[in-house]
Amino acid sequence: MSHAASLLERITNRSAKVGVVGLGYVGLPLAVEFANAGFRVTGIDLDERKVAQLNRGESYIQDVRTSAVAPLVSSGKLSATANPGAVRDFDTINICVPTPLRKTKDPDLSFVVAAVEAIAGHLHPGMLVILESTTYPGTTEEVVQPILEKTGLKAGVDFFLAFSPERVDPGNEKWTTKNVPKVVGGLTPDCAHLAAALYRSSIDTVVEVSSPKVAEMVKLLENTFRAVNIGMVNELAMMCDKLGISVWEVVEAAATKPFGFMPFYPGPGLGGHCIPIDPFYLSWKVKEIGIEARFIELAGQVNGAMPQHVVDKITDALNTGGKAVNGANIFVLGVAYKRDIDDVRESPALDVMSLLLNKGGRVTYHDPFAPTIDGKHWPGGVDMSSVPLTPEALAAADCVVILTDHRQFDFAEILKHSRVIVDTRNAIKTRHSHVFKIGAPVPIQ
Ligand SMILES: NC(=O)c1ccc[n+]([C@@H]2O[C@H](COP(=O)([O-])OP(=O)(O)OC[C@H]3O[C@@H](n4cnc5c(N)ncnc54)[C@H](O)[C@@H]3O)[C@@H](O)[C@H]2O)c1
Repeated sequence: MSHAASLLERITNRSAKVGVVGLGYVGLPLAVEFANAGFRVTGIDLDERKVAQLNRGESYIQDVRTSAVAPLVSSGKLSATANPGAVRDFDTINICVPTPLRKTKDPDLSFVVAAVEAIAGHLHPGMLVILESTTYPGTTEEVVQPILEKTGLKAGVDFFLAFSPERVDPGNEKWTTKNVPKVVGGLTPDCAHLAAALYRSSIDTVVEVSSPKVAEMVKLLENTFRAVNIGMVNELAMMCDKLGISVWEVVEAAATKPFGFMPFYPGPGLGGHCIPIDPFYLSWKVKEIGIEARFIELAGQVNGAMPQHVVDKITDALNTGGKAVNGANIFVLGVAYKRDIDDVRESPALDVMSLLLNKGGRVTYHDPFAPTIDGKHWPGGVDMSSVPLTPEALAAADCVVILTDHRQFDFAEILKHSRVIVDTRNAIKTRHSHVFKIGAPVPIQ
């Protein structure tokens, strides 16, 4: 029997041993879905704490319930290790490691390269390797394939290689790893067929495309689409600000058009591990062939300017009461990059807070999802802890700034007790003399 036929048989009868490298926001939910489908799944992560927690049957990712993990661990379907040697027992392996940017906004593929080198050390004939980390078109063939082929095994013949972008949306209860369609591009028809078979075992819909490059580009189109549209609406917000029009009212009314329009909303800037980062993978790649990705660069500039725009709003709001940012008590509500999640990576709230600290503001914050902020991980450079959200804390602030509109915030109470509010999310729908919104007229005093 050929390698492809034998792997397909093991995928079909669930006897294939499945591995996932990188057990973060993407890797853990995927590992759980494979285990739910009946495979024996082993996750590999360098972070010993995650490994230990998972082996105790505990989840550390907000979207994955411990009650979903514990039975899989106790029945032996799911386990974790920090030892890359585990790869030698795997039939398939999905790579879900980070793909950040360097300070220069160039792609940092060091995590992918390290993970692939570790796999290469234990690659064996008949194995299927799938890259899921978001990256520029060409990575699977130009970076991953050569490292794996240094073993002497040939992709598409001795082992199988594919790219399949992850589309997880943290905090989204409706669209999960299981029901979001999965795009797959294989190096050869066998590679595509095997990768699609693995995903079909666990994910409702699989969409095959003709190559890894196409699949890599699909993900970048999706995230560039968001970055550019958010950039456009943020620019519109700044225009509306000056024109005395509410951008929020404009977007809501435009969204009644039943075709040809999709609403995007302004905010304090982009955050998370995807939208602020991924489009720059594409702009970097096309520079090689002399193309300037103008929409991406422009959206990056507009979105990157939003934290300063928010600080300008706060300055104006304080100024109305005869106060300066310097020495003012500024109470920030929400530091996660979006509603109802615990991820503060790249969060624009951190940029807003750091700009305020630089101007001498006395900044405190409350976020039920982010009890602490480590000074090492944000531009403000100081360790901070969430302070309780009480009527007294609101009343004591010279300005309350809504940066993330978590659903558990009681905005009626916040409105009642605060002296001045800057609302970057349209969390307070009605107009009040003490509520300043981005992209909206100055309140009537
Ligand atoms: N978070 C999202 O919403 C999201 C959505 C879609 C796509 N993605 C993409 O998925 C990829 C992973 O993102 P994430 O948010 O899950 O990252 P994450 O930081 O939550 O998880 C990555 C994990 O990989 C581990 N790791 C790093 N190098 C390793 C190695 N060599 N061997 C083993 N483990 C290693 C880290 O310890 C970490 O636990 C990125 O390319 C990202 O762009 C993320």
